[in-house]
Amino acid sequence: MTSVPAAASRVEMTQLVMPGHANTVGTAFGGTVMQWTDLCAGMAAMRHARLPVVTASVDRLDFLSPVRIGQIAILRAQVNAVFHSSMEVGVVVDTEEPGTGERRRCCTAFLTFVALGTDGRPVPLPPLLVSSEEERLREREAGVRRASRLALREALRR
Ligand SMILES: CC(C)(COP(=O)(O)OP(=O)(O)OC[C@H]1O[C@@H](n2cnc3c(N)ncnc32)[C@H](O)[C@@H]1OP(=O)(O)O)[C@@H](O)C(=O)NCCC(=O)NCCS
Repeated sequence: MTSVPAAASRVEMTQLVMPGHANTVGTAFGGTVMQWTDLCAGMAAMRHARLPVVTASVDRLDFLSPVRIGQIAILRAQVNAVFHSSMEVGVVVDTEEPGTGERRRCCTAFLTFVALGTDGRPVPLPPLLVSSEEERLREREAGVRRASRLALREALRR
């Protein structure tokens, strides 16, 4: 299978935060930001796999600062590492003040997606081609996270 460059999976998704996205304290509802995160990461996974994918796990999703109504949310996703039928995607979410352009990091997340064949079963993915030092670091760190993620999955199954 031909390797696919990590950069080919990049997705940027932009969303104006509307009153309908609010929680009861007037900032964006966390579940809405989670949905955007899953969607953005899923598109990055599909760009790598060129196959249907499903979310297998979300092992870190940190809300670092609130997303306010009227701000622009900018989500960026990229495949960090490919294992066999699964891959880890990293997502960062920044907010932008429309009046000033000032940006702030509000969320980071790591999600695992699995590629499915026509029978709905996991299928092997093309390898990931990493070319920069940053991409190599992301791949190494994703490998460490996979080990603890799968160990935790085993523990939860008991
Ligand atoms: C994800 C899913 C396809 C895995 O199927 P499975 O029969 O457990 O398959 P396997 O045990 O062979 O695992 C396949 C791959 O998924 C990975 N995987 C499975 N569960 C995982 C989890 N919780 N976290 C991370 N990776 C996981 C395995 O490590 C394996 O990766 P590899 O091929 O790269 O080594 C299956 O559990 C599923 O369909 N889950 C529901 C997904 C879904 O509906 N998501 C939408 C949200 S409702």
